Amino acid sequence: MDIAEKTIKEFQKKILLFYREHGRNLPWRQTTDPYHILLSEIMLQKTQVSRVITYYDQWIKKWPSVHHLAKAEYRDILQHWMGLGYNRRSYYIHQTAQIISIDFDGDVLKAIKQYKKLPGIGLYTSKAVQIFSTNADIATVDTNIRRIFIHEFNLAETISDAELFKIAEQCLPKGQSRNWHNALMDYGSLKVTALETGIKPKTQQSKFPGSDRQIRAKILRRLLNEPGSFEYLQTDLKVEKERLQKILEKMKGEGSIVINNQKYYLP
Ligand code: ADE
Repeated sequence: MDIAEKTIKEFQKKILLFYREHGRNLPWRQTTDPYHILLSEIMLQKTQVSRVITYYDQWIKKWPSVHHLAKAEYRDILQHWMGLGYNRRSYYIHQTAQIISIDFDGDVLKAIKQYKKLPGIGLYTSKAVQIFSTNADIATVDTNIRRIFIHEFNLAETISDAELFKIAEQCLPKGQSRNWHNALMDYGSLKVTALETGIKPKTQQSKFPGSDRQIRAKILRRLLNEPGSFEYLQTDLKVEKERLQKILEKMKGEGSIVINNQKYYLP
């Protein structure tokens, strides 16, 4: 789909003006350090901005470089992640830091271009890190940006990612990628919201109470205290045997827990 030049110019003007007047001052906007930006983007994947702010500041103080994070103990990382939710991300971020530190000699930008080698990193995050750290003329689409395009250009909610990325490239004002993406994110979070437009995100977060996600979080909390057997976990968590078995298998497969001598441990 091609959007008229004039429509694009007007759209750009509106978004950039909004940003000048209402843009948020967020800590990861004060840096161009690709590692710090990567941390913020992973935290922001599933957690709201207000909560991420305090965690982000603590993390960069505690682990100021990718090498520091790579060398950290996983249990320490998990402990500092708890409260952000979707704890699998803490495991992936540790793995990713180790790959960047060892295989890429700490070069986050070089590694992020080969994002398929990095667990938990997708196309959106790869592009976002490049945009916010180097202001490169590339475009990306997150759930906010998708909603803005659908709303502004009257698109079907079924539009493919490939189409959305094409539109994003047409709309990008050259030389202003960092500013532009920050502006879009603020416009999407503050003005063209899901509540306002009724446009649903492509994937919705599952409800937490009683979910597998909640059980996973409880398992990790228990194992942070001490390793435990299946029976211990089952008695403690009061979860049906088959369900618990399935969840533990999945966690084992991802590497976020390990089993040794009939006991589950953190890696
Ligand atoms: N969501 C994802 N990345 C973001 C960013 N850089 N600023 C605000 N919200 C975001």
